[in-house]
Amino acid sequence: MITTPVETLAMALTGDDLPAYVYDLAALRTYAQAVRAALPPGLELYYAAKANPAPPVLQALAPHVTGYEVASGGEVEHVRAAVPGMPLAFGGPGKTEGELRRALALGVERFHVESEQELRLLAEAAENARPSGTGGTETAKGASGTGEVAVLLRVNLPLDGGALGGAALAMGGRPSPFGLDPEAVERCLPLFTREGPLRLRGIHAHLASGLDAPAQVAMAARIADWTRKLSERHGLGLTEVNVGGGMGVDYAHPDRRFDWAAYGAGMADLALRHPGLTLRIEPGRALTVHCGWYVTEVLDLKHSGGEAFAVLRGGTHHLRTPATKQHDQPFQVLPVDTWTRPWARPAAREEPVTLVGQLCTPKDVLARRVPVTELRAGDRVAFAMAGAYAWNISHHDFLMHPQPGFHYLDE
Ligand SMILES: Cc1ncc(COP(=O)(O)O)c(C=O)c1O
Repeated sequence: MITTPVETLAMALTGDDLPAYVYDLAALRTYAQAVRAALPPGLELYYAAKANPAPPVLQALAPHVTGYEVASGGEVEHVRAAVPGMPLAFGGPGKTEGELRRALALGVERFHVESEQELRLLAEAAENARPSGTGGTETAKGASGTGEVAVLLRVNLPLDGGALGGAALAMGGRPSPFGLDPEAVERCLPLFTREGPLRLRGIHAHLASGLDAPAQVAMAARIADWTRKLSERHGLGLTEVNVGGGMGVDYAHPDRRFDWAAYGAGMADLALRHPGLTLRIEPGRALTVHCGWYVTEVLDLKHSGGEAFAVLRGGTHHLRTPATKQHDQPFQVLPVDTWTRPWARPAAREEPVTLVGQLCTPKDVLARRVPVTELRAGDRVAFAMAGAYAWNISHHDFLMHPQPGFHYLDE
């Protein structure tokens, strides 16, 4: 259900103020606090900034998270500036030499390394940036101020027992450009030397997204067990394991939430089984998806071949999520009863309606054949679950329509 502050604003905005993204930061704070409270105290909660990097969102989360996962040089700069002083973990494939140098200069606290080549690049950059190094132009601050660089190797771990059965998007557990195969992790170990700048702190994995709480806990257990065995086998003394994000949300049931209580209980058990190993997670979507709405209005309502189409102001160039995930974006109709035109108001009643945007492509569909009681030209529509992977993954410039407004409600 739409929250009262969002609905009030959605109805107060003029047509020309629409479409608009409206974020309920007070609801986000409350939710993040509840998530934190459901997790075991020793577990570190990082927010994957890629889900929604808007500064007010990053800042609202700050009291409730340990740090932020960033996945590009752009995110490193952006998140560092938005929430200064908060720990960053720099992941993602294809980090460039320049990005690594800059991240070192900014004192990024953790590097999630995706390949042997990347590890070598990082070692080289860190070596050059050491105060005593030659040829370095920027000085590495290092997490500890010692010039040492904390590394987690990202592993692409095969998952047995169909653990990824319910995953919406599997990133690992099969051939993948992400992370290192287990044997490749072992091959990287000799690159950590006492004299070198890199320190292997632990293992990172992000193997799937869209998993429910029991599947997430099972996957985390597999990663933590593997990490401990690796550590014992090689006498590495690893102290950290980051089991990734990917906590599932249900776009078909916007009022349902990821079961953080069950997840927290499972992770507490896991922590007991692994004393000395700090567990870390980095969810994105499940933290912020519920705090955002994309509000717009029905410009036209027409029938074609017996089917009803509502043409909305805006479209998938603002809210690409339903196009990428091939789902119906959940929505609520906010009726506007005023109609001052001299002709009959176009309407659909007690029938399925397809909600489309203003783009000249049949792919510009936000929701397909969804039954409505009534939807009329001039009514407003609030799309829910638009707080993550929504505006920031959309192709804004296509067709040069105006950009939406952005409203961050915080009361
Ligand atoms: C490495 C990594 N961590 C965390 C996340 C966040 O995933 P989600 O938003 O599904 O929780 C992603 C998403 O792609 C990722 O690639």
